[in-house]
Amino acid sequence: MDPLAVALVLVAVHFGAPLAYYVEAKRWLKRPWDVKRDLQHTPTVTVAIPTYNETRHIEEKLEDVYRQDYPRDRLEIIVVDSASIDGTAEKARRWAAAHPDADVKVVEEPQRRGKASALNAALAMARGEVFIITDADCRWPQKDALKKAVSWLADPSVGAVTCLKKSAADGPAGVEAGYRGHYNVLRLAESKKWATPIFHGELAAYKTELLRKIGGFPLDIGADDSHTAAKIAAMGYRVVAAEDLWCVEAVPHNGYHRWRIRRAQHLLQHLLKTPVEEAPPPMRPIFLAEKYLHLANPWLLPAAVAALVAAATPPALALLAAGAAALALKPYRTWIAAQLYLMAAAVKNLWDNELVWEKQDKRYS
Ligand code: GDD
Ligand code: MN
Repeated sequence: MDPLAVALVLVAVHFGAPLAYYVEAKRWLKRPWDVKRDLQHTPTVTVAIPTYNETRHIEEKLEDVYRQDYPRDRLEIIVVDSASIDGTAEKARRWAAAHPDADVKVVEEPQRRGKASALNAALAMARGEVFIITDADCRWPQKDALKKAVSWLADPSVGAVTCLKKSAADGPAGVEAGYRGHYNVLRLAESKKWATPIFHGELAAYKTELLRKIGGFPLDIGADDSHTAAKIAAMGYRVVAAEDLWCVEAVPHNGYHRWRIRRAQHLLQHLLKTPVEEAPPPMRPIFLAEKYLHLANPWLLPAAVAALVAAATPPALALLAAGAAALALKPYRTWIAAQLYLMAAAVKNLWDNELVWEKQDKRYS
């Protein structure tokens, strides 16, 4: 086959497959939830905050949880600090002492063994019927975030629930916000169909009993939030992103690319290691699509470029030039950037899983 034709097919599949999935997702979005929520549901809740060098954020995070409109006697907060060297644990302890009406425990691990290990320490001592994880460097802008989160768990068919995300900043070249908007639509659509394989550590709420049944957070997969949700889905429960639950995440002001690559690495580890057959039948097409889109589809792009370069005919070179010129368009640029992060992540995963990662400074504007 002539290389130009090969390139055209690769390009068509690369852009056509995600587009087709998006169109299908938009149809799922129109479905009813079939979930019996209860906004009066107030189970006991444990909020676990894992920290490593979070002095800049920990107090505001604790305030965030403290401000929640939720019965205080049903809310436990556990900060697990893994040997921070910036005084995070002291700061958390001081905050706890100044707020005796809040049930705050500060656990200090003697050494840093990663976020999942810290979450497991919190899970081992949690008293709540619902176990919620949240990163120190994210915000819950809604005062009723907790109430909303647990309202979904009132339905016995739902095992876990997560938020949608807004970025506090847009990242270089304006790519972050665009990426988020598109992602949120997919998370919601998948949730309405049955379950989403991608959860967010900014706010993920699990039925504690189920979390214990699956053995807690995985120590070998960076996407602890998503992988636990998938395991719970494998038990037959729905695991959903809630349409009315929002978190704001800080974006690093330097090392943005490194940050995106590390997170992609974690997501790929999860998608690679979760067998499709484990998912309940209605979730299988979702899992298959996400696996394909994250693990395979990005690579069609360099293959197409290689074919065009090999062809080296005027139409092939014109197509290459058009592809490069289109980078001026934000949605296209956002897409290409995401593909590059996924490919870089796949390569990096070959030698470094980044299960314990460098703390990056982030900001909210
Ligand atoms: N206790 C403890 N021990 N906490 C940790 C450790 C650790 O070794 N490493 C990171 N954390 C904490 C951070 O302090 C923060 O509260 C949270 O885990 C997330 O880590 P960040 O360094 O802020 O990473 P992020 O902003 O990119 O987080 C996103 O990606 C992660 C996976 O790559 C979020 O989606 C996280 O939920 C996700 O785990
Ligand atoms: Mn973070």
